[in-house]
Amino acid sequence: MDRFLIQGGTPLEGAIAASGSKNSALPALAACLLTDQPVTLERVPQVRDLRTMLDLIRHIGAEVSTDNGRITIRARELPHPEAPYDLVKTMRASSLVLGPLAARCGSARVSLPGGCAIGARPINLHVTALERLGAEVRQEHGYIEACAPRGLRGGEVSFDRITVTGTEDVLMAAVLASGETVINNAAREPEVVDLARLLVSMGASIEGAGSSTIRVKGVSRLHGASHSIIPDRIEVGTFLIAGALTGGDLLITRCEPAHLRALIAKLHQAGVEVTEPTPDSLRVRAPGKLKSVDVTTEEHPGFATDLQAQFMALMTRAEGISFITETIFENRFMHAQELARMGANIRVEGRQAIVAGPSPLSGAQVIASDLRASASLVLAGLAAQGETIVDRVYHIDRGYEKIEAKLAGLGARIRRIS
Ligand code: EPU
Repeated sequence: MDRFLIQGGTPLEGAIAASGSKNSALPALAACLLTDQPVTLERVPQVRDLRTMLDLIRHIGAEVSTDNGRITIRARELPHPEAPYDLVKTMRASSLVLGPLAARCGSARVSLPGGCAIGARPINLHVTALERLGAEVRQEHGYIEACAPRGLRGGEVSFDRITVTGTEDVLMAAVLASGETVINNAAREPEVVDLARLLVSMGASIEGAGSSTIRVKGVSRLHGASHSIIPDRIEVGTFLIAGALTGGDLLITRCEPAHLRALIAKLHQAGVEVTEPTPDSLRVRAPGKLKSVDVTTEEHPGFATDLQAQFMALMTRAEGISFITETIFENRFMHAQELARMGANIRVEGRQAIVAGPSPLSGAQVIASDLRASASLVLAGLAAQGETIVDRVYHIDRGYEKIEAKLAGLGARIRRIS
């Protein structure tokens, strides 16, 4: 199993370009199943979750051709409209094919995902939403089976709580349903907006993406399109925090600052200088001293849960007490214990972590438990004195493109070892 060997203590300096968004590319690939014509996606990051999604799309029966970050999918026929357990268990986002397959094929079979390191993460809201569009859904042998032999029909969907992939799933189902669908309490994440943009370029009629009410007028078929994936705001946020934590000076290009307002505001409060030299770049410079700030994760445009672990690593170096409250997932503090092994002073009480700083971090052997937790441990290792070994970096490979090459290009001393 691969590990990272990190020699900490070097400020990150220089420029890097953001990769395309993993969480935008995943639903975009699922959306390609909605038409029998070719859809080309640019700027798809080369990360493990995307490779898993491509395996799933091939399994379903679509043709896939790849050329670096450009991927063309042609879903002429879909002989196997199902997401098998072996793929779903390695990537929960496989459930994103449920809506498109039910809409295009009239039937879909998706394995239930089971538990996950950061929380239970059920897909009950996806199922209820599809039922509102007329699908008959049953659960058997660990699979969800959705059936709509005469096609889906538009309806009103009101989510009990905001779900990102749930909103994306039902949006993809609604574009081919007959009549109008209204999605209330929809997720407002930039990835939902990007998916809507792709669907519109394929011929769908969608209004309100980015707000909490999305209206869709179903069409009978969609056509091919070409679409460029938005920059990965979580990767950009991770690099902003890395710059601040290591006392560096970083320029991140090809990004979308508007997607990161909540993080930038918190960095400013902590005393970190973040500027926008151009409309698509961000520069971060670290202060001599960091101030502690409190953070509560929320749905977009609030502070992203996917940046909570990295921000906690930053707060270990800040002066004072920081309260970090996680409201999206029930078990997303696995990194706290590992950061404590590096010298951080963190107490977890239910959904809150209390970080008392500043702590001088020292290198240690630590274990990554999930994607963003592993990013926080890498960041802590970069800032720590001495050597850190981060075990189970397959988690980080799920979602960060060429992470060690990008960091090494900024002066980090990081090496992959087997
Ligand atoms: N939830 C339910 N029932 C459902 C769906 C969700 O109870 O049917 C709960 C979840 O258990 C969670 C909350 O609702 O407590 C929000 O979950 P959501 O559905 O929004 O999460 P997701 O769509 O499964 C996406 C991202 C995650 C990100 C969350 C929150 C993708 C592929 N994944 O997950 O990204 O943390 O939204 O923003 O878009 C990551 O990239 O590391 C990652 C985990």
